[in-house]
Amino acid sequence: MEITTTLGEFIVARQSEYPDASGELSALFSAIRLASKIVHREVNKAGLADISDSVGSKNVQGEEQKKLDVYANEKFKMALAARGVVCGLASEEEENFVLFEEALNMNAKYVVLIDPLDGSSNIDVNVSVGTIFSIYRRASPTGQPVVKKDFLQPGNNQVAAGYVIYGSSTMMVFTTGNGVNGFTYDPSLGVYCLSHPNMQFPDHGRIYSINEGNYIRFRGGVKKFIKYCQEEDPETQRPYTSRYIGSLVSDFHRNLIKGGIFLYPASSQYPEGKLRLLYECNPMAFLAEQAGGRAIVSESKSVLDLVPTQMHQRVPFFVGSRALVDKLEGFLHDYG
Ligand code: AHG
Ligand code: MN
Ligand code: MN
Repeated sequence: MEITTTLGEFIVARQSEYPDASGELSALFSAIRLASKIVHREVNKAGLADISDSVGSKNVQGEEQKKLDVYANEKFKMALAARGVVCGLASEEEENFVLFEEALNMNAKYVVLIDPLDGSSNIDVNVSVGTIFSIYRRASPTGQPVVKKDFLQPGNNQVAAGYVIYGSSTMMVFTTGNGVNGFTYDPSLGVYCLSHPNMQFPDHGRIYSINEGNYIRFRGGVKKFIKYCQEEDPETQRPYTSRYIGSLVSDFHRNLIKGGIFLYPASSQYPEGKLRLLYECNPMAFLAEQAGGRAIVSESKSVLDLVPTQMHQRVPFFVGSRALVDKLEGFLHDYG
Protein backbone atom coordinates (compact mmCIF):
# COMPACT_ATOMS: atom_id res chain seq x y z
CA MET A 1 0.00 0.00 0.00
CA GLU A 2 1.29 3.42 -0.89
CA ILE A 3 1.38 5.84 2.02
CA THR A 4 0.89 9.47 1.07
CA THR A 5 1.90 12.52 3.05
CA THR A 6 -0.65 13.51 5.65
CA LEU A 7 -1.56 17.14 6.29
CA GLY A 8 0.14 16.93 9.70
CA GLU A 9 3.38 15.64 8.18
CA PHE A 10 3.24 18.23 5.41
CA ILE A 11 2.89 21.07 7.88
CA VAL A 12 5.79 19.84 10.01
CA ALA A 13 7.98 19.38 6.91
CA ARG A 14 7.16 22.87 5.63
CA GLN A 15 7.33 24.66 8.98
CA SER A 16 10.76 26.08 8.29
CA GLU A 17 9.42 27.72 5.10
CA TYR A 18 6.53 29.46 6.84
CA PRO A 19 6.68 33.22 7.25
CA ASP A 20 7.41 32.59 10.92
CA ALA A 21 8.87 29.30 11.92
CA SER A 22 7.86 29.42 15.59
CA GLY A 23 5.22 26.73 15.22
CA GLU A 24 2.29 29.06 15.89
CA LEU A 25 1.03 28.84 12.35
CA SER A 26 1.28 25.04 12.47
CA ALA A 27 -0.75 25.00 15.68
CA LEU A 28 -3.28 27.30 14.07
CA PHE A 29 -3.62 24.93 11.14
CA SER A 30 -4.17 22.01 13.44
CA ALA A 31 -7.06 23.90 15.08
CA ILE A 32 -8.60 24.53 11.65
CA ARG A 33 -8.05 20.90 10.71
CA LEU A 34 -9.79 19.66 13.84
CA ALA A 35 -12.80 21.97 13.47
CA SER A 36 -13.15 21.00 9.81
CA LYS A 37 -13.39 17.32 10.77
CA ILE A 38 -16.17 18.11 13.22
CA VAL A 39 -18.04 20.12 10.60
CA HIS A 40 -17.45 17.33 8.04
CA ARG A 41 -19.13 14.91 10.41
CA GLU A 42 -22.09 17.21 10.94
CA VAL A 43 -22.49 18.08 7.25
CA ASN A 44 -22.54 14.39 6.42
CA LYS A 45 -25.45 13.74 8.69
CA ALA A 46 -27.35 16.91 7.82
CA GLY A 47 -30.13 14.86 6.19
CA LEU A 48 -30.49 12.74 9.31
CA ALA A 49 -30.67 15.84 11.48
CA ASP A 50 -33.69 16.87 9.40
CA ILE A 51 -35.40 13.56 10.17
CA SER A 52 -34.87 13.98 13.88
CA ASP A 53 -35.91 17.64 13.63
CA SER A 54 -39.19 16.61 12.06
CA VAL A 55 -40.06 14.58 15.15
CA GLY A 56 -39.12 17.49 17.35
CA SER A 57 -36.01 15.89 18.80
CA LYS A 58 -33.28 17.78 20.57
CA ASN A 59 -29.59 17.04 20.65
CA VAL A 60 -27.83 15.29 23.54
CA GLN A 61 -27.53 18.44 25.59
CA GLY A 62 -31.23 19.00 25.17
CA GLU A 63 -30.68 21.99 22.92
CA GLU A 64 -32.63 22.66 19.76
CA GLN A 65 -30.65 21.71 16.63
CA LYS A 66 -28.66 24.68 15.45
CA LYS A 67 -28.44 25.81 11.90
CA LEU A 68 -25.31 24.36 10.39
CA ASP A 69 -23.68 27.70 9.67
CA VAL A 70 -24.05 28.74 13.31
CA TYR A 71 -22.74 25.32 14.37
CA ALA A 72 -19.72 25.60 12.07
CA ASN A 73 -19.00 29.10 13.37
CA GLU A 74 -18.99 27.87 16.96
CA LYS A 75 -16.74 24.90 16.24
CA PHE A 76 -14.10 26.94 14.44
CA LYS A 77 -14.23 29.64 17.09
CA MET A 78 -13.85 27.16 19.93
CA ALA A 79 -11.02 25.23 18.28
CA LEU A 80 -9.08 28.41 17.52
CA ALA A 81 -9.60 29.94 20.98
CA ALA A 82 -8.60 26.73 22.75
CA ARG A 83 -5.13 26.51 21.20
CA GLY A 84 -4.08 29.97 22.34
CA VAL A 85 -2.63 30.72 18.91
CA VAL A 86 -5.10 33.34 17.73
CA CYS A 87 -5.85 36.69 19.35
CA GLY A 88 -9.10 37.35 17.55
CA LEU A 89 -11.52 36.22 14.92
CA ALA A 90 -13.87 37.88 12.48
CA SER A 91 -16.63 35.83 10.93
CA GLU A 92 -19.37 36.25 8.42
CA GLU A 93 -21.65 34.92 11.16
CA GLU A 94 -20.69 37.57 13.73
CA GLU A 95 -21.59 41.22 13.52
CA ASN A 96 -18.46 42.35 15.35
CA PHE A 97 -15.03 40.80 15.57
CA VAL A 98 -14.43 38.47 18.53
CA LEU A 99 -11.63 39.06 21.05
CA PHE A 100 -9.91 36.07 22.62
CA GLU A 101 -8.98 37.50 25.98
CA GLU A 102 -7.01 34.74 27.69
CA ALA A 103 -3.41 35.91 28.26
CA LEU A 104 -2.11 33.22 25.93
CA ASN A 105 -4.40 34.42 23.16
CA MET A 106 -3.60 38.08 23.64
CA ASN A 107 0.07 37.27 23.16
CA ALA A 108 -0.63 35.43 19.93
CA LYS A 109 0.19 37.24 16.73
CA TYR A 110 -2.45 35.97 14.33
CA VAL A 111 -6.05 36.85 13.57
CA VAL A 112 -8.38 34.60 11.59
CA LEU A 113 -11.18 35.71 9.27
CA ILE A 114 -13.69 33.08 8.31
CA ASP A 115 -16.79 32.18 6.35
CA PRO A 116 -17.67 29.11 8.46
CA LEU A 117 -20.20 27.67 6.03
CA ASP A 118 -20.19 28.96 2.50
CA GLY A 119 -23.05 28.05 0.19
CA SER A 120 -25.27 27.19 3.14
CA SER A 121 -28.42 27.41 1.02
CA ASN A 122 -27.17 24.21 -0.63
CA ILE A 123 -27.20 22.19 2.58
CA ASP A 124 -30.86 21.22 2.36
CA VAL A 125 -30.43 19.83 -1.13
CA ASN A 126 -27.30 17.75 -0.54
CA VAL A 127 -24.99 19.95 -2.62
CA SER A 128 -21.40 20.79 -1.67
CA VAL A 129 -20.68 23.53 0.84
CA GLY A 130 -17.42 24.82 2.27
CA THR A 131 -15.47 26.79 4.85
CA ILE A 132 -13.19 29.67 3.81
CA PHE A 133 -10.43 30.99 6.05
CA SER A 134 -7.83 33.71 5.96
CA ILE A 135 -4.96 34.39 8.36
CA TYR A 136 -3.20 37.71 9.03
CA ARG A 137 -0.54 38.87 11.41
CA ARG A 138 -2.18 41.35 13.77
CA ALA A 139 -1.36 45.00 13.10
CA SER A 140 -1.58 46.16 16.74
CA PRO A 141 0.99 45.20 19.42
CA THR A 142 0.65 41.79 21.11
CA GLY A 143 -0.43 41.57 24.74
CA GLN A 144 -3.43 43.85 24.16
CA PRO A 145 -6.95 43.14 22.93
CA VAL A 146 -7.25 43.12 19.14
CA VAL A 147 -8.75 46.15 17.43
CA LYS A 148 -10.63 46.68 14.19
CA LYS A 149 -7.56 47.63 12.18
CA ASP A 150 -6.15 44.14 12.82
CA PHE A 151 -8.92 42.85 10.57
CA LEU A 152 -9.17 45.66 8.03
CA GLN A 153 -5.95 44.77 6.25
CA PRO A 154 -5.49 44.48 2.50
CA GLY A 155 -5.54 40.91 1.18
CA ASN A 156 -1.89 41.31 0.19
CA ASN A 157 -1.04 41.03 3.89
CA GLN A 158 -2.46 37.51 4.19
CA VAL A 159 -0.06 35.01 5.72
CA ALA A 160 -2.18 32.03 4.73
CA ALA A 161 -5.60 31.27 3.30
CA GLY A 162 -7.61 28.28 2.26
CA TYR A 163 -10.88 26.47 2.11
CA VAL A 164 -12.43 23.19 3.08
CA ILE A 165 -14.90 21.72 0.61
CA TYR A 166 -17.44 19.27 2.01
CA GLY A 167 -18.20 17.56 -1.28
CA SER A 168 -18.33 14.01 -2.60
CA SER A 169 -15.19 13.88 -0.52
CA THR A 170 -13.98 16.49 1.94
CA MET A 171 -10.84 18.37 0.94
CA MET A 172 -8.69 21.11 2.39
CA VAL A 173 -6.90 23.41 -0.06
CA PHE A 174 -4.57 26.08 1.26
CA THR A 175 -1.61 28.34 0.68
CA THR A 176 0.99 29.89 2.94
CA GLY A 177 2.30 32.03 0.09
CA ASN A 178 4.33 29.25 -1.47
CA GLY A 179 1.95 27.55 -3.91
CA VAL A 180 -1.35 25.79 -3.32
CA ASN A 181 -1.78 22.24 -2.07
CA GLY A 182 -4.89 20.10 -1.71
CA PHE A 183 -5.53 17.35 0.84
CA THR A 184 -8.36 14.82 0.71
CA TYR A 185 -9.89 13.63 3.95
CA ASP A 186 -10.00 9.90 4.60
CA PRO A 187 -12.80 9.53 7.17
CA SER A 188 -11.85 5.93 7.95
CA LEU A 189 -8.41 7.08 9.13
CA GLY A 190 -9.45 10.56 10.28
CA VAL A 191 -6.60 12.17 8.34
CA TYR A 192 -6.16 14.50 5.41
CA CYS A 193 -3.79 13.09 2.75
CA LEU A 194 -1.91 15.13 0.15
CA SER A 195 -3.83 14.37 -3.05
CA HIS A 196 -3.37 17.53 -5.14
CA PRO A 197 0.20 18.86 -4.77
CA ASN A 198 1.06 22.23 -6.29
CA MET A 199 -2.37 23.07 -7.76
CA GLN A 200 -2.36 25.39 -10.77
CA PHE A 201 -5.22 27.12 -12.57
CA PRO A 202 -5.03 26.06 -16.23
CA ASP A 203 -4.11 29.28 -18.10
CA HIS A 204 -7.04 28.86 -20.43
CA GLY A 205 -10.36 27.45 -19.43
CA ARG A 206 -13.70 26.74 -21.01
CA ILE A 207 -16.04 27.19 -18.05
CA TYR A 208 -17.83 30.37 -17.00
CA SER A 209 -19.69 30.46 -13.68
CA ILE A 210 -22.20 33.18 -12.96
CA ASN A 211 -25.79 33.45 -11.77
CA GLU A 212 -27.12 34.20 -15.22
CA GLY A 213 -30.64 34.66 -13.89
CA ASN A 214 -29.50 38.16 -12.95
CA TYR A 215 -28.38 38.95 -16.53
CA ILE A 216 -30.73 41.86 -16.95
CA ARG A 217 -29.28 43.52 -13.84
CA PHE A 218 -25.63 43.37 -14.95
CA ARG A 219 -23.62 46.16 -16.49
CA GLY A 220 -22.53 46.27 -20.13
CA GLY A 221 -19.07 44.69 -19.77
CA VAL A 222 -20.30 41.57 -17.99
CA LYS A 223 -23.24 41.20 -20.40
CA LYS A 224 -20.88 41.40 -23.38
CA PHE A 225 -18.53 38.87 -21.79
CA ILE A 226 -21.38 36.40 -21.26
CA LYS A 227 -22.36 36.77 -24.91
CA TYR A 228 -18.70 36.27 -25.91
CA CYS A 229 -18.65 32.99 -23.93
CA GLN A 230 -21.77 31.85 -25.79
CA GLU A 231 -20.60 32.66 -29.33
CA GLU A 232 -19.53 29.90 -31.69
CA ASP A 233 -15.83 30.03 -32.58
CA PRO A 234 -13.95 26.75 -33.17
CA GLU A 235 -10.54 28.39 -32.84
CA THR A 236 -11.14 29.40 -29.21
CA GLN A 237 -13.34 26.35 -28.56
CA ARG A 238 -16.40 28.48 -27.95
CA PRO A 239 -19.14 28.33 -26.91
CA TYR A 240 -17.85 27.75 -23.42
CA THR A 241 -19.59 25.64 -20.81
CA SER A 242 -21.74 27.29 -18.14
CA ARG A 243 -21.49 25.78 -14.64
CA TYR A 244 -22.87 27.41 -11.49
CA ILE A 245 -23.38 25.63 -8.18
CA GLY A 246 -24.08 28.64 -5.98
CA SER A 247 -21.35 27.76 -3.48
CA LEU A 248 -18.32 29.92 -4.14
CA VAL A 249 -16.03 27.23 -2.70
CA SER A 250 -17.40 24.55 -5.03
CA ASP A 251 -17.47 26.77 -8.11
CA PHE A 252 -13.93 27.97 -7.43
CA HIS A 253 -12.65 24.45 -6.75
CA ARG A 254 -14.03 23.07 -10.01
CA ASN A 255 -12.62 25.97 -12.01
CA LEU A 256 -9.23 25.64 -10.32
CA ILE A 257 -9.01 22.04 -11.45
CA LYS A 258 -10.65 22.29 -14.87
CA GLY A 259 -9.94 25.90 -15.88
CA GLY A 260 -12.61 28.58 -15.83
CA ILE A 261 -13.80 31.90 -14.49
CA PHE A 262 -16.19 32.71 -11.63
CA LEU A 263 -18.08 36.03 -11.68
CA TYR A 264 -20.16 37.72 -9.00
CA PRO A 265 -20.50 41.21 -10.46
CA ALA A 266 -22.19 44.33 -9.23
CA SER A 267 -25.83 44.45 -10.32
CA SER A 268 -28.79 46.76 -9.94
CA GLN A 269 -29.80 44.54 -6.98
CA TYR A 270 -26.31 44.43 -5.41
CA PRO A 271 -24.55 47.65 -6.51
CA GLU A 272 -21.44 46.69 -4.50
CA GLY A 273 -21.59 43.02 -5.48
CA LYS A 274 -22.70 40.32 -3.04
CA LEU A 275 -19.60 38.51 -1.82
CA ARG A 276 -17.68 39.70 1.21
CA LEU A 277 -14.20 41.03 0.71
CA LEU A 278 -12.77 39.81 4.02
CA TYR A 279 -14.29 36.34 4.34
CA GLU A 280 -14.72 35.26 0.72
CA CYS A 281 -12.92 37.33 -1.91
CA ASN A 282 -9.51 37.94 -0.30
CA PRO A 283 -8.78 34.32 0.63
CA MET A 284 -9.94 33.08 -2.78
CA ALA A 285 -7.92 35.78 -4.52
CA PHE A 286 -4.77 34.82 -2.60
CA LEU A 287 -5.28 31.15 -3.52
CA ALA A 288 -5.96 32.07 -7.15
CA GLU A 289 -2.81 34.15 -7.49
CA GLN A 290 -0.74 31.48 -5.76
CA ALA A 291 -2.13 28.98 -8.29
CA GLY A 292 -1.23 31.16 -11.28
CA GLY A 293 -4.73 32.61 -11.72
CA ARG A 294 -6.06 36.15 -11.28
CA ALA A 295 -8.70 37.91 -9.17
CA ILE A 296 -10.03 41.43 -9.84
CA VAL A 297 -12.83 43.66 -8.60
CA SER A 298 -12.95 45.83 -11.71
CA GLU A 299 -10.82 46.74 -14.67
CA SER A 300 -7.15 46.68 -13.61
CA LYS A 301 -8.00 46.59 -9.89
CA SER A 302 -6.70 43.54 -8.08
CA VAL A 303 -8.76 42.23 -5.14
CA LEU A 304 -5.67 41.91 -2.96
CA ASP A 305 -4.76 45.60 -3.27
CA LEU A 306 -8.03 46.88 -1.81
CA VAL A 307 -7.85 48.49 1.62
CA PRO A 308 -11.02 47.37 3.42
CA THR A 309 -13.11 49.97 5.19
CA GLN A 310 -15.80 47.78 6.79
CA MET A 311 -15.87 44.34 8.33
CA HIS A 312 -18.70 43.08 6.11
CA GLN A 313 -17.80 44.99 2.98
CA ARG A 314 -18.99 43.52 -0.30
CA VAL A 315 -17.19 43.84 -3.62
CA PRO A 316 -17.68 42.68 -7.20
CA PHE A 317 -15.56 39.57 -7.72
CA PHE A 318 -14.02 37.97 -10.80
CA VAL A 319 -11.60 35.09 -10.35
CA GLY A 320 -10.13 32.28 -12.37
CA SER A 321 -7.83 31.28 -15.19
CA ARG A 322 -5.59 34.15 -16.20
CA ALA A 323 -6.55 34.28 -19.90
CA LEU A 324 -10.26 34.38 -19.07
CA VAL A 325 -9.91 37.13 -16.46
CA ASP A 326 -7.77 39.12 -18.93
CA LYS A 327 -10.47 38.68 -21.58
CA LEU A 328 -13.20 39.81 -19.18
CA GLU A 329 -11.11 42.83 -18.23
CA GLY A 330 -11.09 43.95 -21.88
CA PHE A 331 -14.91 43.94 -21.89
CA LEU A 332 -15.05 45.82 -18.56
CA HIS A 333 -12.73 48.41 -20.08
CA ASP A 334 -14.75 48.81 -23.28
CA TYR A 335 -18.29 48.55 -21.94
CA GLY A 336 -18.13 49.41 -18.24
P1 AHG B 1 -22.98 32.12 2.14
O1 AHG B 1 -23.71 30.81 2.11
O2 AHG B 1 -21.71 32.07 2.94
O3 AHG B 1 -23.87 33.29 2.50
O4 AHG B 1 -22.42 32.43 0.65
C1 AHG B 1 -23.24 32.28 -0.47
C2 AHG B 1 -22.57 32.99 -1.58
C3 AHG B 1 -21.55 32.19 -2.36
O5 AHG B 1 -21.16 30.99 -1.83
C4 AHG B 1 -22.21 31.97 -3.69
O6 AHG B 1 -21.26 32.05 -4.68
C5 AHG B 1 -23.23 33.06 -3.78
O7 AHG B 1 -23.56 33.40 -2.49
C6 AHG B 1 -24.45 32.64 -4.54
O8 AHG B 1 -25.29 33.73 -4.67
P2 AHG B 1 -26.59 33.72 -5.60
O9 AHG B 1 -27.55 32.79 -4.99
O10 AHG B 1 -27.02 35.17 -5.60
O11 AHG B 1 -26.13 33.29 -6.99
MN1 MN C 1 -20.11 32.53 1.66
MN1 MN D 1 -21.48 31.60 5.06
